[in-house]
Amino acid sequence: MRDEVNARLDQLLPDSDHHPASLHEAMRYSLLGSGKRVRPLLCVLVSEAADGAGRSFALDAGCAVEMVHTASLILDDLPCMDDAGMRRGRPTTHREFGQATSILASVGLLNRAFGVISEQHDIAPAIRSRALEVLSEAVGSNGMIAGQEIDLHERRKYDHATPIESVNWLKTGVLFVASAHIGALAADLRPEIIGSVNDFARHVGLAFQTADDLIDRMGDAQSIGKDVGQDADIPTLASISGTQSARLSCEDNLRQAHNALNESGLHPAGLTALVDSIFGASLGSGA
Ligand code: IPE
Ligand code: IPE
Ligand code: MG
Ligand code: MG
Ligand code: MG
Repeated sequence: MRDEVNARLDQLLPDSDHHPASLHEAMRYSLLGSGKRVRPLLCVLVSEAADGAGRSFALDAGCAVEMVHTASLILDDLPCMDDAGMRRGRPTTHREFGQATSILASVGLLNRAFGVISEQHDIAPAIRSRALEVLSEAVGSNGMIAGQEIDLHERRKYDHATPIESVNWLKTGVLFVASAHIGALAADLRPEIIGSVNDFARHVGLAFQTADDLIDRMGDAQSIGKDVGQDADIPTLASISGTQSARLSCEDNLRQAHNALNESGLHPAGLTALVDSIFGASLGSGA
C-alpha cells in the first residue's frame, strides 16, 4: 500500500519541469523522498477497517495530509528552526534548493493539500467540507503550528512530563488524529466510533513522538535518514525521565491505542500491523 501512496503522491503534484521548475522540483524532492507514509496509511487503513467504504477519498485525503506533514518538515529543518542537514536520506530541501525556494515549496505543498481534498467530487459534499475543516484545524494555530512555536520558544524551561506531552500532542499527535479522523469520515462512521478511532490515533501519535525523541538520542543518522542529536539541549521525556521511562510511556500509549481500536469495533488487523511495523523498528532496536 505504501507503493500505492507513493504513486498517488507523484500524480497529485505538477511535473518537475512545470514552470517555475525550481519550485516544483523542490516540492517533488521533499514530498517524494523516502518518507514512511505513516499518516496516509493511517487514513486509508481506517477506511479499510470499516469495510473499505470511501477508500479512494481516504487515499487522496491521506496524500493531502502527507503534503501538510512534508511542508512542516521543510520548515522544521530550516536554519532558523532545527537547522538540519539531512532528511529522508538526502540533503534537506533548503540545502538543495536554498531557503527561499524551500519556504515557497512548503507553502506550495500546504496549499496543494487543501486543493487535493477540494477536488474530490465522488464523496458527499458534507464529508468533504468536514475533512477540510479537520485538516485546517489540525495544522493551524491551535494545532501543529502552535506545537512548533511552543517547541522553539517555550519548551526549554519544561522540567516535567505533562507540558512535554502537551507539546508532543500539538506538534505530532494532532496530525495523526486528523489522518485517522478523515479516514473515518470517508467511511461515514458514527460519531462514537470516530471518537474511538481518534483516541487510537492520539495514543499512536504520542507514542510516535516519544519514540522519535528516543531515536534522536540513540539512533543512527545513516539508518534513519535524518540528523540525530538535535534535541541534546532540550527537555524530552527521555532526557527528563530517562530512556527506560520514555520507552514505558510509548508502550503504555500503544496499549491504550489497542484498547481504543478494540472499542471501535472495526476490523483491527490492518491498523495493528501498521502500528507494529512502526514501533517494532524503533522500540525493538534498542532505540
Ligand atoms: C518526522 O515524521 C517528524 C515527527 C513528527 C517526529 P516521520 O517520522 O513520519 O517522517 P517521515 O515522513 O517518515 O520522513
Ligand atoms: C517535528 O518534530 C514535528 C513537526 C515537523 C511538526 P522533530 O523536530 O522532532 O522532527 P524531526 O526529528 O526533525 O523529524
Ligand atoms: Mg523540530
Ligand atoms: Mg526537527
Ligand atoms: Mg525529532
